[in-house]
Amino acid sequence: MKIRYGVIGCGAIHGVHCESIRGVAGAELVGVFDVLPDRSQKTAEKFGITSFETLEALFEAVDAVTVCVPSGLHAELGVAAAKAGKHVLVEKPIDVTVEAATRLIEACESAGVKLGTISQHRFSAAVRRLHDAAQGGEFGKLLEGDAYIKWYRTQAYYDSGDWRGTWALDGGGCLINQGVHYVDMIQWIMGGVRAVQAQVRTSAHDIEVEDIAAALVEYKNGAIGVIQGSTSFYPGLAERLEVHGKHGSVILEGDKPKLWKIDAEAAAEGLYGGGVQMQPTPSLHLHDQTDEVAAGASDPTAIWGEQHRLQIEDFTQAILENREPAMTGRMALEPLKVILAIYESSRKGGARVEIA
Ligand SMILES: NC(=O)c1ccc[n+]([C@@H]2O[C@H](COP(=O)([O-])OP(=O)(O)OC[C@H]3O[C@@H](n4cnc5c(N)ncnc54)[C@H](O)[C@@H]3O)[C@@H](O)[C@H]2O)c1
Repeated sequence: MKIRYGVIGCGAIHGVHCESIRGVAGAELVGVFDVLPDRSQKTAEKFGITSFETLEALFEAVDAVTVCVPSGLHAELGVAAAKAGKHVLVEKPIDVTVEAATRLIEACESAGVKLGTISQHRFSAAVRRLHDAAQGGEFGKLLEGDAYIKWYRTQAYYDSGDWRGTWALDGGGCLINQGVHYVDMIQWIMGGVRAVQAQVRTSAHDIEVEDIAAALVEYKNGAIGVIQGSTSFYPGLAERLEVHGKHGSVILEGDKPKLWKIDAEAAAEGLYGGGVQMQPTPSLHLHDQTDEVAAGASDPTAIWGEQHRLQIEDFTQAILENREPAMTGRMALEPLKVILAIYESSRKGGARVEIA
């Protein structure tokens, strides 16, 4: 049996969904819908699929949808799909408010359909390995977890869609749009965020929302950390996750290990540890599908592909096996809450904001 998919929204990211669905053995790409019919027709011609004239017609023909519309419309379309009995995989972020995200989660639960949210970097082998090392106790006590997402987007990028860089439909700027992946990963790896203190700014673009953000983070386990986001730093740097524990340190850059040094015995020996790591020493062979990821710092289209396919494969298997997907809607609430707390802290002059 194959899960029949429809894709809603035919903009920048939707082609990756179409290609990914076609790359999954248990999935079939049936058709697409967009409020701008010329967009869905173009996609339909390219893939030899149906361009549906209405959402209802698409729902009639499929078992599941992927939602690739502006972020502040994810819940609205996801709820409509759930009410029609369709499984729902929404792009990130799950939506732009906790209320909308919760509405979507509850609609899917009461309809008995699966809900997933794209967070494709979780499907990188190095990120999964780091999560398992951190949560499996390999670092010993976790001390600090940092995420740096110093990217670059031009004003033309923000002008390319009337929803981009707006509070209503983008939900914020460099953190909720570009940074959400890394906020999600660092909070997942570290075991959840308790509180933040932050400053965000709109500094280099003519937009409503932030294009620079700096936050001090306290994790639930007592560790601390830093989250820095930007779409202002030319030329855009590869994003980094840095995790430090009592027994070692790991740095991933562009989802690839730059430093992987965990050694409980060595960490207990000598007075000065292993010396300053001037030359990072990656010791894992995890250079899987992630080689191209760093390129996304300045060109978003450079980073899309295999990780989406892996996540759609997992979502398809979750439907077929009647289990939860690896990245559920409820899991996607966590990075959203962290980002909204960062915005609230900044509005309050950097005050500590606890995550409910
Ligand atoms: N996972 C990733 O790496 C990644 C990358 C890019 C975008 N995204 C996410 O994907 C979503 C879409 O981003 P994009 O860059 O493709 O946007 P886009 O503006 O390029 O495309 C959005 C499309 O949705 C259509 N649309 C709007 N309202 C609609 C409705 N009610 N019904 C049907 N279609 C509708 C628009 O006409 C447009 O074609 C966003 O939430 C974004 O955060 C994720």
